[in-house]
Amino acid sequence: MPFRIVEGDITKLQVDAIVNAANESLLGGGGVDGAIHRAAGPRLLEECRTLHGCKTGEAKVTLGYDLPAKYVIHTVGPIWRGGNYGEEDLLRSAYRNSLFSALEKNCESVAFPMISAGVYGYPKDQALEVAVSTIRAFLDEHEMDVTLVIFDRESFRFDGRLYSEISGFIRNTYDDGKGQRNLLYDMESAFEVDECICEERAEVRKEIRHAKSMMGASAMAAPIQMHLQDTGLKEALENLDESFSQALLRMIDARGMKDSDCYKKANIDRKLFSKIRSDVNYRPSKQTVLAFAVALELDLSETEAFLKKAGFALSHSNKADVIVEYFISHRNYDMYRINEALFAFDQNLLGA
Ligand code: APR
Repeated sequence: MPFRIVEGDITKLQVDAIVNAANESLLGGGGVDGAIHRAAGPRLLEECRTLHGCKTGEAKVTLGYDLPAKYVIHTVGPIWRGGNYGEEDLLRSAYRNSLFSALEKNCESVAFPMISAGVYGYPKDQALEVAVSTIRAFLDEHEMDVTLVIFDRESFRFDGRLYSEISGFIRNTYDDGKGQRNLLYDMESAFEVDECICEERAEVRKEIRHAKSMMGASAMAAPIQMHLQDTGLKEALENLDESFSQALLRMIDARGMKDSDCYKKANIDRKLFSKIRSDVNYRPSKQTVLAFAVALELDLSETEAFLKKAGFALSHSNKADVIVEYFISHRNYDMYRINEALFAFDQNLLGA
């Protein structure tokens, strides 16, 4: 998966390079700097001494010694002084220079801590935004697996407004097996089940009219009406013998997307995409299908039909599905944002 967020200790990660949030002396310190030096052993400090320091925003590389990682990329983030002293640019260049140092060393995988978000006092939510947007810009142009390591949940500050909106949506939608399921969802899944038995569509329509009058919510029927008229989905449904892989490639072409635009937006690595492209009967995971549904910007009913081709369905008793449904129903297809939200709610990320 090109971009992932994990909770843990960066010194334990089996990646080609880990990034150290150091200070300009490169002679060690506390926080992640101290942890990396302890885990790498004394030879790390010996090599650091030969580097004669590192300017804020720049990066220098040493071997990893006793660490599982082959390299340590030492970078220095800015000390937060209120935000008017070029801190954001310096933090961005710390991430960017570290990524390009990893590229120069032909690393296929690199892991970052939240640079400057500890002792250096960078506000955690802004530090996250700088980290994710800089990594995203790099991954738009290069292939690498980049992991952002969150040492403790306290360090992860997801967008508060979005967090509470999603929490509200989960409260109204998530079916923990005890509560009422969402009637609209039942209606939609009922429609899905009958997608190919046309005469029963009339039956489903009658139930929808009844449910609409019962709920008095004109909006309630809207998604299904859209569902009925949506030519793209109707066409996809009509090709019922079309496999997941064929439907994916057809929709990429229909949207005039390049393959790489689609798999990058889906947070899917190139090798996996080539496998899907070359195997008409490829059997994807649910995360992979949802990742492509987001990349193709499918609406909820198109996503349902796409999932069905791979033998899956959105479930209101699966919190991750409910979170993805929130983003799709709000037509927010920002995969990085979706994965931040999934991480914030302790769910598996989308992509592969
Ligand atoms: N693995 C991953 N992340 C870690 C670990 C670890 N083992 N230990 C700490 N962190 C996280 C912190 O929770 C924080 O989110 O690393 C992030 C950066 O915190 P600091 O290590 O304090 O780094 P920074 O804020 O950039 O300050 C750098 O601190 O350690 C000194 O020598 C260092 O002077 C420099 C300053």
